[in-house]
Amino acid sequence: MITAIVVSGGDAPGINAAIETYARLASEAGDHALGVQDGFAGMLAGELEPLDIPLLTQMAGRGGSILRSSRAPALGEAGGRERLQAAIRERKIDNLLLFGGDGTLRHALPLLESWGISCIVLPTTIDNDITGTDYTLGHDSACNFARAAVDGIRATAQALPGRFFMLETLGAPSGHLALAIARASGAHAVLLPEYEVDLDWLADRVTSCVKRDGYALAVLSEATPGIERIVAEIPARAGIRLRYTALGHAQRGADASHLDRAVAREMSRLAWRALKDGCRLGVVLSRDGALSLREGSLPPGRKPAPDYEQYARINGL
Ligand code: F6P
Repeated sequence: MITAIVVSGGDAPGINAAIETYARLASEAGDHALGVQDGFAGMLAGELEPLDIPLLTQMAGRGGSILRSSRAPALGEAGGRERLQAAIRERKIDNLLLFGGDGTLRHALPLLESWGISCIVLPTTIDNDITGTDYTLGHDSACNFARAAVDGIRATAQALPGRFFMLETLGAPSGHLALAIARASGAHAVLLPEYEVDLDWLADRVTSCVKRDGYALAVLSEATPGIERIVAEIPARAGIRLRYTALGHAQRGADASHLDRAVAREMSRLAWRALKDGCRLGVVLSRDGALSLREGSLPPGRKPAPDYEQYARINGL
């Protein structure tokens, strides 16, 4: 069996461990795993190469992806179907292992399915916002990266009281990542794209938290509307200095956490087993704490808005 491995969405911590596991399982069974550089654009260009397992082992815990991704919508290109089929035929590829998020499930999977190309998707995004699965690969590592930032902010916040700290996470367009981080960090407030921020409320919240704890900490998603206005107005309204930290892409490129390494390896094992057993189309899901392979695709779309109860509790609403 020959499998081509494609990273078709944004990179996320854990991808390298998943690739290593798949490559090892394939090699031990006398099968072959080929790595595709530059996502489907690379696949169309025939950029497939055998995987270097010792190098993968070294890289297994590192963030990013040893197989580069691409934002280019290559499969929709004129002649894309023919070239993809030619690339697959030329290399005698039996099936694909795909890493991706909503875009991959929404666009690439139906096309591959309609072409009769076997493939399994490992839902991968730090945002954890894909409908139908409780967990996406990379999310825990992004949360852990933020945890280290929260610890640092808290240390200085307590040592020099009187400041309001805002910690901006990635996660656009949804607020699931920011909410998860706020929950674990004991933040005084969480601001999400899904729920409107009332500036009067926020100014009061900041003032009362600084009075009580010596500082206030808000975790916010990068896609929260009106961030500039919050930054411009809250310090003046509350009479409190604001210090802003944006985690930015360093969060996405974080090393893989213990959980993500374990999830990555289990996802790969399930995918390899399913492809060996002749599965034509599948997605590895996390439900109620367990990973399993679901045959067929997933309904497209993102998860519903983050839980309002949790949002309200953190914000003292
Ligand atoms: O979807 C994953 C994600 O990292 C989001 O959290 C973030 O907004 C986006 O990708 C960034 O994309 P890009 O790397 O294209 O800037």
